[in-house]
Amino acid sequence: MALKTRFTEMFGVEHPIVQGGMQWVGRAELAAAVSEAGGLGFITALTQPTPAALREEIERAKSLTKKPFGVNLTILPAITPPPYAEYRQAIIDSGVKIVETAGYKPQEHVDHFKAHGIKVIHKCTAVRHALSAERMGVDAISIDGFECAGHPGEDDVPGLILIPAAADKVKIPMIASGGIGDARGLVAALALGAEGVNMGTRFMCTKESPIHQKVKEQIVANDERSTDLIFRTLHNTSRVAKNAVSQQVVEIERRGGATFEDVKDLVAGARGRVVYEEGDPDYGIWSAGQVQGLIHDIPSCGELVSRMVREAEEIIRNRLVKFIG
Ligand SMILES: Cc1cc2nc3c(=O)[nH]c(=O)nc-3n(C[C@H](O)[C@H](O)[C@H](O)COP(=O)(O)O)c2cc1C
Repeated sequence: MALKTRFTEMFGVEHPIVQGGMQWVGRAELAAAVSEAGGLGFITALTQPTPAALREEIERAKSLTKKPFGVNLTILPAITPPPYAEYRQAIIDSGVKIVETAGYKPQEHVDHFKAHGIKVIHKCTAVRHALSAERMGVDAISIDGFECAGHPGEDDVPGLILIPAAADKVKIPMIASGGIGDARGLVAALALGAEGVNMGTRFMCTKESPIHQKVKEQIVANDERSTDLIFRTLHNTSRVAKNAVSQQVVEIERRGGATFEDVKDLVAGARGRVVYEEGDPDYGIWSAGQVQGLIHDIPSCGELVSRMVREAEEIIRNRLVKFIG
């Protein structure tokens, strides 16, 4: 069984299931496993220390799958930004045909990718940003609700509203992101007007995900209340797994008047990386969404994707159809 949508047609994949960019997690083995399973996997460009390392990582993914996979390029405001143009060139030169952009002002990146025949999915958290990306000429939108891991934006609109609100206005294919972890989420997303789903946290907790087993077990043990929103007061909200460090950050922000300097050491990316590598979930900040409450196992990507598609069919055929009197 395959669920066919405008998204699967456009991107040449079997199933409308995407693994979005994930810093420190989106490496070749995970992206390739998702694509091998019939979904669309993404390598995260900035996880690689240099554009040259990204070229090697793309080659590694090519050696693991012949199916389409993409690269995520996340554009974040930074005092010393990474060499975006060089990362972009590495993606183009490597012959990758699909890119997920996320973050601020992607126009120059979109223009350059499109000039090389690359399809671009722009991920955003607001209808107005989706419409502006559509005007920029991207091929598809990934719309990320407030439930999501990572950056949910500042509008706090959950998927149940955001997806149909975007579907009412966006004309190009759109996939739903944030809070999706099983077939029920997939079918709901389709019902709300999306043509596929993007998942982060769920794919992070799979056999092929290149993070420590203890972090995967922590995700299984966690529930839907196990996240914190940090950087709220800095207007750069991030949803992360609730732990000793995230609670300290929230406490510092709660006191009022906090600046980035006050939390800088606690939130250092290097500490988050140690969480994934050494498996101590309380060592630093790491991203995870509310969907942790729906994650109860650590399947392979193949098992996960085929289970979602099989159960989605069951829900549509055996549950939904029966409601029609
Ligand atoms: C560990 C982790 C790291 C992430 N890093 C990025 C990133 O670097 N760039 C990006 O665009 N999205 C990033 N995301 C967001 C995901 O691509 C996706 O939009 C989000 O996880 C969807 O919500 P969900 O976790 O509820 O499925 C990250 C998510 C996780 C769980």
